Amino acid sequence: MASQIPSKFDINTTYTMNSGYRIPALGYGVYQTPAAECESVTLHAFKTGYRHVDSARVYRNEQPCADAIRASGLKREDIFFTSKVPPKSMSYEAAKKSIESTFSQTGLEYVDLYLIHAPHGGKEARLGAWKALVEAQKEGKIRSIGVSNYGVHHLNELEEYIKTSGVGGTIDVGQWEIHPWLPRNDIVEWSRKRKVVIEAYCPIVRGERKDEPVLKKLAEKYGKTWSQILLRWSLQKGYVPLPKSVTPSRIEENAAIYDFKLDEDDMKSLDFPESYAPCSWDPTVSND
Ligand SMILES: NC(=O)c1ccc[n+]([C@@H]2O[C@H](COP(=O)([O-])OP(=O)(O)OC[C@H]3O[C@@H](n4cnc5c(N)ncnc54)[C@H](OP(=O)(O)O)[C@@H]3O)[C@@H](O)[C@H]2O)c1
Repeated sequence: MASQIPSKFDINTTYTMNSGYRIPALGYGVYQTPAAECESVTLHAFKTGYRHVDSARVYRNEQPCADAIRASGLKREDIFFTSKVPPKSMSYEAAKKSIESTFSQTGLEYVDLYLIHAPHGGKEARLGAWKALVEAQKEGKIRSIGVSNYGVHHLNELEEYIKTSGVGGTIDVGQWEIHPWLPRNDIVEWSRKRKVVIEAYCPIVRGERKDEPVLKKLAEKYGKTWSQILLRWSLQKGYVPLPKSVTPSRIEENAAIYDFKLDEDDMKSLDFPESYAPCSWDPTVSND
C-alpha cells in the first residue's frame, strides 16, 4: 500500500487491492443518510465525480444507493459499491443471510466490497462471518472482502485462520476511524505490511475539529476549507477517505481536493502520534 501512494492524485485515482480489483481513492459515505434522500444525494455525488459509495446493511439505504447506480447512466463497472455485515449478524449463517438480503434488496448483480462491520460476537462468530464472505466471493457475488473496526488482535486472529483453516481469502480492505487525532499507527503499520488498503471513516471528524488552530492556519495558507485540508491529508497518507454529506455544496467541496498539495512540513504539523480521540464508536478495543 505505502508504495502505491501516488505523487499526484485526481478524482479518478485508484488503488489495486490484494484481490486484484481496483478501488477509487475517494469514497462517498452514506451513514445516517435517510433512505428517502439517499438516491438523489448519491446521484449528486456521481455528477460531482465520486465513483465509490460506502453503505452498510445497518444504514438501511443500500437500495437507494443501488437505485442511484442504475439511474446514473454510468456503467456498473465504473462504480464501486460497498456494504457490510451487521454487528448483529456475526456468524456463518447470519452473515450468509445478510449477504443474500443485500442482493434481494438492491437487485445488484455483484457488490464490489463487503466488509465485516465490527469484530463483535466472539471468535467463532467472527471467523464464521469471514467464511461466508469468502464463499460469496468464490461465487462471484462479491469481488473484494475485508473488515472494519478490527484491532490488531482481531487482525492477527483472522490472519491465523486464513493461513490454517483452508477457508482462505485475502484481506483486501480495512476500514477504521482515522484522522490526525486518531492516527492508529499500529493498525496502519499492520495493514501496510500486508498491502491491505486502508479506508478512513469520519475523515473530517464530523466537523468537531473545525476550529483547531492548525486547521485554520493551513486553510488560510492553501486557500482551502478545514474539511478539504483533512481530506487532502488523508489522501496524501495513502488512505481512502469516505466523507459523508447530504448537502450538495459540501459534496462538491469535499471532492475539490486535487488542486493543491500539503507540503511535508504541513503534513507533519498534522502528525499527533500520541493522540487517541475517536469521535465515533471504537470496537477495535473490544475483547470478546
Ligand atoms: N465502519 C464504521 O463503523 C463506520 C463508522 C462511521 C462512519 N463510517 C463511514 O464513513 C463515512 C463518514 O463518516 P461520518 O459520516 O461518521 O463522518 P464525517 O464524514 O467525518 O462527517 C460527516 C458530517 O460532517 C458534515 N460535513 C460534511 N462535509 C462538510 C463540510 N465540507 N463542511 C462542514 N461540514 C461537513 C456532514 O453534514 P451534512 O451531511 O449535513 O452535510 C456530517 O454531519 C460514513 O458515512 C460511513 O460511510 C463507517
